[in-house]
Amino acid sequence: MDELRTKYLDQIGKVADEAALEDLRLAALGKKGEISLKMRELGQMAPDVRQGAGAALNRLKDEIDAALRAKKSALGDAALDARLKDEWLDVTLPGRPRRQGTIHPVSQVTEEVTAIFADMGFAVAEGPQIESDWFNFDALNIAPEHPARQEHDTFFMARAEGDARPPHVLRTHTSPVQIRAMQGQGAPIRVIAPGRVYRMDMDQTHTPMFHQVEGLAIDRDISMANLKWTLEEFCRAFFEVPSVELRFRASHFPFTEPSAEVDIRCSWAGGVLKIGEGDSWLEILGSGMVHPKVLAAAGVDPAQWQGFAFGMGIDRIAMLKYGIPDLRAFFESDLRWLRHYGFAALDQPSLAAGLSR
Ligand code: PHE
Repeated sequence: MDELRTKYLDQIGKVADEAALEDLRLAALGKKGEISLKMRELGQMAPDVRQGAGAALNRLKDEIDAALRAKKSALGDAALDARLKDEWLDVTLPGRPRRQGTIHPVSQVTEEVTAIFADMGFAVAEGPQIESDWFNFDALNIAPEHPARQEHDTFFMARAEGDARPPHVLRTHTSPVQIRAMQGQGAPIRVIAPGRVYRMDMDQTHTPMFHQVEGLAIDRDISMANLKWTLEEFCRAFFEVPSVELRFRASHFPFTEPSAEVDIRCSWAGGVLKIGEGDSWLEILGSGMVHPKVLAAAGVDPAQWQGFAFGMGIDRIAMLKYGIPDLRAFFESDLRWLRHYGFAALDQPSLAAGLSR
């Protein structure tokens, strides 16, 4: 027994990792371990010898077991110490400013618009930028000979020679997403669809590619009153002013009836644009009650469902809100402009934390 004690205590002392320690434990105390075998031999001893030997063996077993446990916890502590030393991190060091890029005002404003409408229960819908003639025009009640097709200054995609089908177009507005969303989800539906649109036009306030956000709300009893409230609520939140005044001007779009263009009250006093006060008006969007033919084209029964739609220029409201004078600069990728008008990457717009800080 003394030999066994010396042997195992000695080996336990020298072991360097937990796996080797476990091997030792099995060799001593495992089912076929040396000490376990000795325990089994007790049965063959004479009763008077057995008593003394049994007690001594038990003591030896406890002693080795204790040594194994102590070593195990020491090895664990050492491993943790090594890890802590290895993974040491000075949390008091200042953060490294890694501001290489900024968020483009169009992205920022798209996020702001999305946050506001999400709060009103609108989901985001999407559609392709290369759109079929049917989605961009016909389904929206713009027949082939309709003058609106000319007004849209459409970019047409090329067709293979001899292919007589109408060419696809770069979508001229986000309104085709109305059709796609209604086809996909049916009614009731409440979506916005932000995205790129294209028209052949270029001056200080027009670029061949720009951004719109479409809005669509269809239910059993949605009216112009709901449209007006929704847009007022949006403008108050977006321009971050306590009150805004909107002016609905009768207008015409083939896909809405009645239709209205919406202006916002503003002032240019001192060359600075202020929203919500003054005697000037700025047009910000087109809107109306979705035409029954449009509902029908999208597979929604106009006898049961009705609602409003609007289309707003994202670049335009970005210019208004952030005082950016020239639209063309949006798409020139001039680093000085981007640094000046761009937003910090971590300033996520949210209604709770503020849209723009
Ligand atoms: N699609 C129209 C445009 O681009 C805007 C609009 C959308 C008008 C929805 C009414 C309803 O000018």
